[in-house]
Amino acid sequence: MPSNDGLKLVEKDESGVDTKFRADILLGLSQAQKATPARWLYDDAGSQLFEEITRLPEYYPTRAETEILREQGGSFADMIGPGRAVVEFGSGSSVKTPLLLSAIDPAAYVPLDISGDFLRAAAADLAKQFPGLPVYPVEADFMRQVALPDAVSDMPKLGFFPGSTIGNMVARTAVDLLRNMRETLGVGAHLLIGMDLIKDTQILIAAYDDAAGVTAEFNYNLVRRINRELDGDIPLDHLQHEARWNDDNARIEMHLVAQADINFCVDGRGFAMKAGETIHTENSHKFNRRTSNMLLFAGGWEPQARWLDGEGRFSLILAEARPNRSAP
Ligand code: AVI
Repeated sequence: MPSNDGLKLVEKDESGVDTKFRADILLGLSQAQKATPARWLYDDAGSQLFEEITRLPEYYPTRAETEILREQGGSFADMIGPGRAVVEFGSGSSVKTPLLLSAIDPAAYVPLDISGDFLRAAAADLAKQFPGLPVYPVEADFMRQVALPDAVSDMPKLGFFPGSTIGNMVARTAVDLLRNMRETLGVGAHLLIGMDLIKDTQILIAAYDDAAGVTAEFNYNLVRRINRELDGDIPLDHLQHEARWNDDNARIEMHLVAQADINFCVDGRGFAMKAGETIHTENSHKFNRRTSNMLLFAGGWEPQARWLDGEGRFSLILAEARPNRSAP
């Protein structure tokens, strides 16, 4: 069933706690390698800290992707053409989305987001900047198949998924998402997707462990959220942010490393960590041409074109959902 067909998107218990948050955190803290899904980093404070991260000197992905969108508008217009319904997976960025929309002359803009508040604010902002463009916000979990508004059903579609957010998913989840995007957008649709590239480890580590400590705060904010919302007493002063390069999996990992043996409670349950043990809080996979192509093919998308920023740090890839056909 499409995710916006009558399902409640967020379930809260009688004390106002998101039941999925509680279940994910308790399960994640119970594992031998403690690990929490990265989506829980983004409460209001976490989203604001992420906005700050995108402006840090060490965090190149946002600037690199924006540079591509700014400089390759003509090339996007040639490959994509006018008259498409642009379906953005996520609420949209006030900088990147307008650059794409002004480059390709679309027929409609459809932002999809699970958070209705963000969605309506971003949609209203966009409608002001592009007065003639119909905007149809859809409140939905875009990780699943989404029913698009009837008004765009006959328009050719372009999915837009910038930011290398796909890199925050393990391969299995990324492939599920790409397949659901294909279902949502239909055969013949195009997808413009941002994927960050493998590069010098020092540059990657610095991007996820900046000198001003904003990324560390972003990581610590998860602990504050757990302590506040799940009645926890995790001793934040005994945890330290660490960004690690995992070469086998081509990804940066964020961890919270215990600085001493610690015991704590969350939601009435007891947990222990030995000094040096970690809570793994995020993956950010990095790609090269072959691995990004492989991931797209696995998700049902054929890569058509690929653009890099001037320093070759980040890629934007255009792919197409071709009809299934026989192959050797
Ligand atoms: C949202 N996402 C693409 C960011 C990234 O680069 O993986 C999240 C982030 N985590 C720490 N810094 C930025």
